[in-house]
Amino acid sequence: MEFKRVEKDNILLIDDVTSNLITLSEIIRNEGYIARPVKSVEYAMRAIDAELPRIILLDVTMPDMNGYDYCRILKKDIRTRNIPVIFISGLTGAKDRIRGFECGGVDYITKPCENLEVLMRINTHLKEYHMQKNLYMRNQKLNILVSKQLQQLETERINLITCLANLCEDRDIPESYHHSDNIAANSKLIATGLSLTPKYEKVITNNFIEMIEIAARLHDVGKLAVSEKVILKKGKLGSKENEQMYKHCEEGLKIVESLSDNGAGMNIFLSMAKDIVTYHHRRWDEGGHTRKEFPLPARIVAICDVFDALTAPRIYKKPYSKKAALKAIKAYSGTIFDPDLVDIMLRLERRLVVTDHGMHVDDDEYIPEWQILDLRR
Ligand SMILES: [Fe+2]
Ligand SMILES: [Fe+2]
Repeated sequence: MEFKRVEKDNILLIDDVTSNLITLSEIIRNEGYIARPVKSVEYAMRAIDAELPRIILLDVTMPDMNGYDYCRILKKDIRTRNIPVIFISGLTGAKDRIRGFECGGVDYITKPCENLEVLMRINTHLKEYHMQKNLYMRNQKLNILVSKQLQQLETERINLITCLANLCEDRDIPESYHHSDNIAANSKLIATGLSLTPKYEKVITNNFIEMIEIAARLHDVGKLAVSEKVILKKGKLGSKENEQMYKHCEEGLKIVESLSDNGAGMNIFLSMAKDIVTYHHRRWDEGGHTRKEFPLPARIVAICDVFDALTAPRIYKKPYSKKAALKAIKAYSGTIFDPDLVDIMLRLERRLVVTDHGMHVDDDEYIPEWQILDLRR
């Protein structure tokens, strides 16, 4: 591939012998390059500070510092490590040439040198330099493009999930509006609080916190498959209706599974969403189940779900104040709820999000029987 030279490439020549500098400068200028001859390493350093050269032609035997040592310095410097260094030396032994390559040189020309040979080697290395630079620039552009597309995909994914959650809320009783927003916010808050405790600092990562905020919105997605008659029924549900309602966990699982790529299996986000939709109505002490079967994301969403249902009005109950709802939750710590989560929730009381439904039950009211909350929550 041909490259277009937009500006003249400047070449730094370092040699303590003036006649060598004159000859090399002439060859280089005749080819259309800018020659910058200097007689010592000290002058070379100043020239580099003033402007970076495209390529360096470096003598090996010089009085202030030999070319090998200077080349090593150039290769350690972030500004100059990618500038090709060609040695030009009267030392013709194989060991000398090998040493030149070992300390970072790209080529080694022995004196006396043919003009044409010097030019051809300079042209070759400059061409490679420009090709690499172009490739680097293209990669940079490509990286920016890919990260923009990934960002767009992520935004679309969140929009899609929010849209699904909103569809559920639109079919629900009006008092449930903002239910998924509140659960998302409180799940994130509890996960963050837990991540700051020694027990959970290694379990809950930033990624976990970001994911649970989105995945929590999906917890009731299975309600899309439950009849509106049951969801919107004014009054308590009968046992058959309860059975139908309980199916929203199973139906939610089917929906989440349908979102995954069958071939590649579930990614960690969908796997978290699957746990949440399946287990968010489980009790902490449910017989025969290990904690492994009641995964942490589901335990977090379960407690937030009940908290939000307690603070919202229902046909059979008034909304509880934040304090009263927490009092009820505390009464079921270790039975219905994971005690660690109850503890964190109590500590974060002020920051818990609730929708203001106006009149609410005060905190000196009695603690409700667990059954007071039906599965529509
Ligand atoms: Fe639910
Ligand atoms: Fe819910």
